[in-house]
Amino acid sequence: MRGNPKDLRLADTAPAIETVDLTKHFGPIVAVDHLTFTVNRGEIFGFLGPNGSGKSTTMRMLLGLARPTRGSARVLGMDIHTRLPEILRRAGSWYLWPVLSRGLLALPPRSSD
Ligand SMILES: Nc1ncnc2c1ncn2[C@@H]1O[C@H](COP(=O)(O)OP(=O)(O)OP(=O)(O)O)[C@@H](O)[C@H]1O
Ligand SMILES: [Mg+2]
Repeated sequence: MRGNPKDLRLADTAPAIETVDLTKHFGPIVAVDHLTFTVNRGEIFGFLGPNGSGKSTTMRMLLGLARPTRGSARVLGMDIHTRLPEILRRAGSWYLWPVLSRGLLALPPRSSD
């Protein structure tokens, strides 16, 4: 990652993923409801749930493809609201998620997202 040394230190020590009260509403549908979790570096994390429980929506928020209704999330210490381009540069393996991203990782969310 390019950037100032403070960013490098943060990215090297921060958890891989942290969410706090991450929430997504689609109109009346509550797709993700105050989700808080941390995935540490090197950890194998099972992200499981029934159909429709919000797994894909959570991943789409982490990719910047859906805007959280409320709550926050960081990837490698970087806030998804403000650091998305750096997150996508660092986390190259996101490109393994073509179904979530519709192959359009560089585009901002649609207004309906
Ligand atoms: N773009 C959207 N517009 C409206 N509702 C949506 C949208 N995306 C997801 N939902 C709804 O949000 C809820 C969570 O869906 P999501 O696809 O995130 O679940 P999932 O855990 O990935 O399910 P699956 O195991 O079937 O992949 C569901 O009720 C779904 O119908
Ligand atoms: Mg899904």
